[in-house]
Amino acid sequence: MEKTLVLLKPDCVQRRLMGRIISRFEEKGLNIIAAKLLQVTPDLAKQHYAEHVEKPFYPGLEAFITGAPVMALVVQGLEVIRVVREMLGATNGLNAAAGTIRGDFSSSRQMNLVHASDGPEAAAREIELYFAANEICDYEPCLTPWMKASDE
Ligand code: CMP
Repeated sequence: MEKTLVLLKPDCVQRRLMGRIISRFEEKGLNIIAAKLLQVTPDLAKQHYAEHVEKPFYPGLEAFITGAPVMALVVQGLEVIRVVREMLGATNGLNAAAGTIRGDFSSSRQMNLVHASDGPEAAAREIELYFAANEICDYEPCLTPWMKASDE
């Protein structure tokens, strides 16, 4: 089972979309094994977006991501890193396909509602940035036998 970090960004929190977006992950059968509401500091933003710090859009991105609380989640499932990225859709909400989260709820490149790790190394690094090991509640959902075959 893979794990990925999902951040419901400040626009998601302010627009009261957290419940609807969490529902999409739950309906897909993914397992939420950690969750917390927190205020991202400029320091945490620089660590999280280390690869973007030198880019011209970074100051705006930092102001946005520190502008209101975020909800951080650890989501677990088979191939969950790819599955969640596909559920989010293209970075820019204007380009994201209908049926994806951004395609359905966002018309913006910056205010694209949700972040998700883009690969296994990023997932491990980002989960550690937001959660201590004892904040992750790895459990076996009782519905598993009705969500997938035992050899999947
Ligand atoms: P996210 O998936 O969180 O990863 C980096 C974020 O930077 C991205 O979503 C967008 O919110 C933002 N971003 C990426 N490219 C640009 C850009 N060219 N201008 C402004 N923001 C951007």
